[in-house]
Amino acid sequence: MSFRKDFLWGGATAASQHEGGFNKGGRGLSTFDTVTGGGYQIPRFITYITKDGEYGEAPIDSTMTGKIPLHAKGYINKDLFYPSHQATDFYHHFKEDIALMAEMGFKCFRMSMSWSRICPNGMYDINEEGLQFYDDIFDECLKYGIEPVVTLNHFDMPLYLADHYDGWLSREVIDSFVFYAKTVFTRYKDKVKYWMTFNEINVLSGWCQIGIHDNCPQNLYQAHHHIFIASAKAVMIGHEINPHNQIGMMVSYTPSYPMTCLPEDVMEAIEFNRQKHFYMDVQVKGYYPDYQLKLFERKNIHIHMEENDLKIIEKGTVDFIGLSYYMSTVSSTDPNAEKTEGNQFIAYKNPYLKTSDWGWTVDPLGLRIALNEIYDRYHKPLFIVENGLGAADTMKDDGTIDDDYRIEYLKNHINAMKDAVELDGVNLMGYTPWGCIDIVSAGTGEMKKRYGFVYVERYDDGTGDFSRRKKKSFDWYKKIIETNGNI
Ligand code: BG6
Repeated sequence: MSFRKDFLWGGATAASQHEGGFNKGGRGLSTFDTVTGGGYQIPRFITYITKDGEYGEAPIDSTMTGKIPLHAKGYINKDLFYPSHQATDFYHHFKEDIALMAEMGFKCFRMSMSWSRICPNGMYDINEEGLQFYDDIFDECLKYGIEPVVTLNHFDMPLYLADHYDGWLSREVIDSFVFYAKTVFTRYKDKVKYWMTFNEINVLSGWCQIGIHDNCPQNLYQAHHHIFIASAKAVMIGHEINPHNQIGMMVSYTPSYPMTCLPEDVMEAIEFNRQKHFYMDVQVKGYYPDYQLKLFERKNIHIHMEENDLKIIEKGTVDFIGLSYYMSTVSSTDPNAEKTEGNQFIAYKNPYLKTSDWGWTVDPLGLRIALNEIYDRYHKPLFIVENGLGAADTMKDDGTIDDDYRIEYLKNHINAMKDAVELDGVNLMGYTPWGCIDIVSAGTGEMKKRYGFVYVERYDDGTGDFSRRKKKSFDWYKKIIETNGNI
């Protein structure tokens, strides 16, 4: 038996990278709207003003204490490029994009909703036009028999909450999120069955993603605790509103191998991998694992919890595990071990494997390893909601784009997941390659790094008319879906 008959083949995007329309239809500003574009090893930054009226530029991963983003003051620097403002303009192209997805035979489309389109300030304000926008998208999907798979929160939050509440460091934000979740679960009760609460919960860290101004470990883990509670409450409410809802968690899964069989390297790898397992243990098993409590003790981290918090976490466990998989990494205790780029972290170079042009290690078998590690540990249905190769595609004079390297990457990864299903018995629900229509890169903020089956004419200098073109991989993926993964 290979992939199940109802296997959810599709593709994935996120609002801040695909949607655009940042000031249209009553939408409020989000944290990501304040971030400039960048490039490979070219930093992105947030333009700010201090309370004393001094202007500056803060690198995306720095602390924002005492800094107010200029956008929050209603000022947008017209000389700078803010990629999320238009992204790849799904806002105006959603019918065309969904028609292209239907042509490829998509069974599902994973997307995220922009929280500040629904609740412009993230408070208890509702923007009907925003709700209608997503109604139109879901109707369009359902017209073609495409199941929407919706992430409630993918790396952004209403700017107001970051600015006025210090984001997820404030407990109040839990209620704001739950209000938003309840609003959309109720509104789309008959249109959306598959949900995920937080994208890549294990890597959420900076001001942009979670709105906290100082992400020291104490603050970060406290904010994550609030996110756990918000997620668990959302899961419970989502089940109450529609018992057929399938609500998942979502983890960035980069398995780490020990560099050598030196026991210290093996222990190092265990500790690296725990920083994914921790988030899964809480959201899937429903409790804080011992190793994490011990780590808190050693690091003098004290999580403030209210009386019922642990019960909420226990009750609000998820139905499935969504994961992104792009690469594997290596753990080493050797300070001279060679480094390379990683998905939001610096990785060690694996001497046996090649890297992409952006320095990410390409490791298809690592996907089978990841699926086995997760399935053996949790026995929950798994959904690969991101996978793909970021590459600089070039359009030839005749307008064609031959992305054979992407086909090769995806083919090898689909083969690996097939092995996980056929040889290892992993219960896999679906597969949605990342950035199925070209989108802005989350890590580097550039258009040059593309993932899609569909090319979007949009460039890093802000030019391009957003027209769409099929790449060579378009027909290839269509065949994959048609044959249920028979490569
Ligand atoms: C995942 C994120 O970490 O990786 C996406 O969920 C992101 O938002 C993707 O786009 C690929 O990373 P990048 O930096 O190449 O866009």
